Amino acid sequence: MCGIVGIIGRQPVSYRLVDALKRLEYRGYDSAGVATITGGALQRRRAEGKLVNLETRLKEEPLSGTIGIGHTRWATHGAPTERNAHPHFTDGVAVVHNGIIENFAELKDELAAAGAEFQTDTDTEVIGYLLAKHRREGMNRREAMHAMLKRLRGAYALAILFVDDPSTIMTARNGPPLAIGHGDGEMFLGSDAIALAPFTNEITYLADGDWAVVGRTGAQIFDFDAHPVERPRQTSIAVAYLANKGNHRHFMEKEIYEQPEVTAHALGHYIDFTQNRVDTVSGIDFARIPSLAIAACGTAYLAGLIGKYWFERYARLPVEIDVASEFRYREIPLSPRSAALFISQSGETADTLASLRYCKGLGLKTGAVVNVGDSTIAREADAVFPILAGPEIGVASTKAFTCQLAVLAALAVGAARARGTLSEDEVQALVKSLAEMPRLMGQVLNSIQAEIELLARELSKSHDVLYLGRGTSFPLAMEGALKLKEISYIHAEGYAAGELKHGPIALIDENTPVIVIAPHDRFFDKTVSNMQEVAARGGRIILITDEQGAAASKLDASHTIVLPAVDEIIAPMIFSLPIQLLAYNTAVFMGTDVDQPRNLAKSVTVE
Ligand code: F6R
Repeated sequence: MCGIVGIIGRQPVSYRLVDALKRLEYRGYDSAGVATITGGALQRRRAEGKLVNLETRLKEEPLSGTIGIGHTRWATHGAPTERNAHPHFTDGVAVVHNGIIENFAELKDELAAAGAEFQTDTDTEVIGYLLAKHRREGMNRREAMHAMLKRLRGAYALAILFVDDPSTIMTARNGPPLAIGHGDGEMFLGSDAIALAPFTNEITYLADGDWAVVGRTGAQIFDFDAHPVERPRQTSIAVAYLANKGNHRHFMEKEIYEQPEVTAHALGHYIDFTQNRVDTVSGIDFARIPSLAIAACGTAYLAGLIGKYWFERYARLPVEIDVASEFRYREIPLSPRSAALFISQSGETADTLASLRYCKGLGLKTGAVVNVGDSTIAREADAVFPILAGPEIGVASTKAFTCQLAVLAALAVGAARARGTLSEDEVQALVKSLAEMPRLMGQVLNSIQAEIELLARELSKSHDVLYLGRGTSFPLAMEGALKLKEISYIHAEGYAAGELKHGPIALIDENTPVIVIAPHDRFFDKTVSNMQEVAARGGRIILITDEQGAAASKLDASHTIVLPAVDEIIAPMIFSLPIQLLAYNTAVFMGTDVDQPRNLAKSVTVE
């Protein structure tokens, strides 16, 4: 994680560095810092916590210099203190780093034995010491850079200043993304194109293993063996993604309310609503594959889990799914005739990317269900299935989740059609339900806000909350719990309703709200029996159901949220809305930092 930037400008750069870092704050916000070369010396300002603290620091003590690098940190090695904040200085070298140097302990021992005195607890500091050592050995800057990179194991995106060259930034990439921006007599670099969007839309992405010498008028790029290489220059559309909160209190609230619109875009990409038809999906031949594998992390994994129910039920396609951090190590016996989907909002999640590479290595056809179209996962997969959610800034995923679901639903129905497992009438009926979804989402969002606020006030007093569901409502229960804990810091767990009596029921008492997600579907009666078990033990039930479910349930839930009755295939998207709003409003009552909750980052580029 972490975000890095660099600017070789014509004017002083410190404020532009901070401006670019603001658009990378989704990658981490534990501490931040900038360094420039000014008056023949390296200078820096650093601050713990969010970028506003660095901005205050810069106001108190401005920093001049027309060349500089910057960093916003998600701490991996070393506490998020100012001392551990990047840029790190070593003997005339300044370094910012995104990633993890896996062999840092070994390098540190070796350098310490040769006299290095480390000032921080970070893995990054070894980079400066290696460079300084190679310079002392007589290497020039490029030779030192290449020799240093050869010693590193792990993942990195780097930006490096040498005090004796005030017109160049050295950069390198192995794992995390790195974009070089071409300006008019100015050059930029950053962890993504959005960071650079106000400055330039002319972007060159470094490939894995590349490193570059960026000067005022261009960049020379080398591969890992130091051979010069050309990488394409592209026009980025990132400027369209420069986002603001509009009239909403938080990005998360805005993104929740955008869902009717963005899910309509996502569905429209795969479904021809004029003909009620799923367009043929290119890239993966669903008719021929014997099975499908899915890997993803967090909320994207839970979307994949719901997708599994659809692919298996509608397309009769067996699905092997796991969180990406386990998937890649399980040595699953996957057939090279199968295909694999990788679901990721950012398209940069390290474990998901590693799972993709693992499956490619086994010869499977790979598909990326991604939001960020020019991300690494999108670029490396054989086929890309965009979710078209637009930029998601709130760290807690909302609209990306429902767009992932919309795309997976369309793909599952398309797969069912290709495999002939549903009749044309059945396909048409599912497509018709999907077509109704955005309108129903709008209706739900307009009707439940006041009720949710009251419930959230109550929920904010809880220490533990349980979520229960069956069928596709089970992954949704886990998503509800994940959303609540990540932004309100209230402990929450999601369980399969039928699992309750195998252990978790011991947690039930009058202080533990139990949120039951139960549309009136094939499982409703069974879920109501599980609710009965909770009620019998004094549990406080909040039931989220539909009109039919509310009428059929004889049970006195302490509160029932009633949604419109909808087809099973769209229920997970519709029922996501009260789940998301409940978590959001609870966090607002509790006064947490909703868009940037503690300890988290939006893009997880470390394993
Ligand atoms: C939770 C959340 C995370 C992400 C996870 C994967 O609200 O956002 O759990 O879903 O870190 O991220 P992506 O989708 O970028 O791979």
